[in-house]
Amino acid sequence: MTGLLECVAGEMVAPARPDLAGLVHWAGAAAQPIHRWFRYREGFSPALITSLGLGRRILDPFCGSGSIMVGAAQQGRASVGIDVNPLAAFVSRVKLSPLGDADVAAAAAFLGGFEAAASGVEPWPEPGLRSASKVFEPRIFDAVLRMRALIEQRATSAAQRDFLLLAWLSILQEVGSYFKEGNGIKYRNRKRRKDGYVARPDGQWQLERFGADQEGFVFAALRAKLTEMLSDVPAWQRGTWSGQRVIEGDALEETGRLCTGSFDSVLFSPPYANRFDYFESQKVELWFGGFVDSYEALGGLRKRSLRSHLGAALDSAVVDLPDVEALIARIDPASYAVRMRVPALIRGYFSDMATILRRCRHVLVPGGQCCVVVGNSAYGGVIIPTDQIIARLGLDAGFGEAAVVPVRHLTVAPQQRNELAGREGLMRESIVVLS
Ligand SMILES: C[S@@+](CC[C@H](N)C(=O)[O-])C[C@H]1O[C@@H](n2cnc3c(N)ncnc32)[C@H](O)[C@@H]1O
Repeated sequence: MTGLLECVAGEMVAPARPDLAGLVHWAGAAAQPIHRWFRYREGFSPALITSLGLGRRILDPFCGSGSIMVGAAQQGRASVGIDVNPLAAFVSRVKLSPLGDADVAAAAAFLGGFEAAASGVEPWPEPGLRSASKVFEPRIFDAVLRMRALIEQRATSAAQRDFLLLAWLSILQEVGSYFKEGNGIKYRNRKRRKDGYVARPDGQWQLERFGADQEGFVFAALRAKLTEMLSDVPAWQRGTWSGQRVIEGDALEETGRLCTGSFDSVLFSPPYANRFDYFESQKVELWFGGFVDSYEALGGLRKRSLRSHLGAALDSAVVDLPDVEALIARIDPASYAVRMRVPALIRGYFSDMATILRRCRHVLVPGGQCCVVVGNSAYGGVIIPTDQIIARLGLDAGFGEAAVVPVRHLTVAPQQRNELAGREGLMRESIVVLS
């Protein structure tokens, strides 16, 4: 590749920090109180706040499940988080809104006999997700909808309802016939083998997974989740929760509305340029949680999100980035990636990155630091060095210095192994530090 790699390899790639590898993925927060309430696969660890030496006022324009904001509250800092996904914004808001004593008591009281009460309520209306009956076994489906209705019936305040609703949303995958994997969801009635997927015998896999009492499986999962959440309530008593603000919207627009020089640090992990569509992998929670009620609404969210996947607004305007064009020119025009419109995705992705970096620069105090956790990707044998391009775009946005800090390797898909042989080292996750 011309220009880009030479420049970056010589000037911007800092020594690797494998000690930070555990902080750039969900496992870093999975077991921690409050963070553990909802498994957000794409999340990272709040420990990045101290590891990266962030300041008192932090912006996370792609806040997801609010990891950084919860961390900020626990450390007496202030934060603003933005996310276009209403599910993510909901999860963050609930975590950042401690319940008062009366609401905690009422949520705890819900645990008293909800199993028996479930049979007396009408199930919640089925959401319009076309595959709804495929993602839950019939008895599980019924129990899930009854639980949803019972939450609505029993909650006496919106805060209480949202707390219970988060517990309920959080167990959907556990009690479902699906799980999130790769770029979407997979079904439990098929098992992955080395040579592909094979069907699991009907009746048997359900018994293995849920036991004979499927309703009991749902009740036990909800009881365990709610008990865990209630046991974390004391952690809510420590922290400055009122200093955190969640904005549901497009980061590109919303950062433009924030005041100049109002943050000491920006830290974010955008979706990577890898075609993964969060609205596909989270579709069950989006529909069942009532965050979308039509396919038009779901499509609208896709179009408003970062151009990291093929459902995004790939035809919207792009800025001219010669380095990016040079990379695209190297992708085999006859490849599947090109037929799938990956070049438009790459152009859109880096145009969006250029915009967000400019806006982040604007809202930072002079000397403020912006850190971006990001992974590289590959198409048709061409590695997209996203970290290096972001470093370059950061300089274009007005930052004085840029460093790419590699933190861990990314696994290369089996079908890419030959094509990328010798260059696997570039398939990595990094923290790009702009100051
Ligand atoms: C890698 S995840 C961030 C996870 C987060 N750091 C956490 O710990 O939960 C990227 C997030 O960006 C969000 N996103 C995608 N496009 C966006 C946009 N245009 N504006 C704001 N958020 C967006 C996604 O919904 C997703 O939650």
